[in-house]
Amino acid sequence: MAEPLTLALSKGRILEQTMPLLKPLGIEPLEDPATSRNLVLPTSDPNVRLIIVRATDVPTYVAYGGADLGVAGKDVLLEQGGHGLYEPVDLGIARCRLMVAGRPDADLEGRRIRVATKFVNVTRRHFAAQGRQVDLIKLYGSMELAPLVGLADAIVDLVDTGNTLRANGLAPLEPIADISARLVVNKGSMKLKHRAIKPMLGKIAESVDRNA
Ligand code: ATP
Ligand code: PRP
Ligand code: MG
Repeated sequence: MAEPLTLALSKGRILEQTMPLLKPLGIEPLEDPATSRNLVLPTSDPNVRLIIVRATDVPTYVAYGGADLGVAGKDVLLEQGGHGLYEPVDLGIARCRLMVAGRPDADLEGRRIRVATKFVNVTRRHFAAQGRQVDLIKLYGSMELAPLVGLADAIVDLVDTGNTLRANGLAPLEPIADISARLVVNKGSMKLKHRAIKPMLGKIAESVDRNA
């Protein structure tokens, strides 16, 4: 009897870009996750179900065993610490960069600056590594607005095409980290459900290689 597995995903780009990686394993949701209101979705593999959670909650569900596996952005893992999780596969999807950004003419040197971000831990570490202390303002979204209205001198946010920065008259100032989504696994599940998880990891890694 095969072991049942629960995989935590977030709606949007993570879900959309993970589905094609799972399809070759015979794992496809039985209803459209984009439109369904169900948060638990059975798949074409009777032993695998998906749960739909907020992107920032994926590590929590997996670490506490609410899910055996999940897909989380490296930004989220860096910010939260990734405790209690294995991170065996870089899925190479949802690629972007964590950046310091601000007005193109911003002069951030020589004084204590205010930085608005939802990534307060990453930001604190980034500036501390340069020997700088900054005042952090925690936001939950629309960071690009903060320098425009004088809330902050700079922001730390995700940048892909740069369109959002440009549209708001901002520019990338310093890179912090290259980001992609990672497969994360509950440590207990990795031991107890090894027979189901191990081959799955191998097959997902093959999907990733084919995608590259
Ligand atoms: P919510 O909408 O619930 O607030 P969110 O904005 O964190 O969540 P997404 O935008 O789907 O959710 O982001 C999920 C992950 O995708 C992020 O953690 C990051 O790793 C990656 N990501 C975010 N924005 C981009 C982007 N513009 N391009 C590529 N990858 C991105
Ligand atoms: C993300 C991120 C940036 C934007 C960067 O927002 O928070 O605002 O993408 O991408 P770009 O460089 O290609 O413009 P998202 O699209 O996830 O919207 P959200 O505010 O709903 O999270
Ligand atoms: Mg987003």
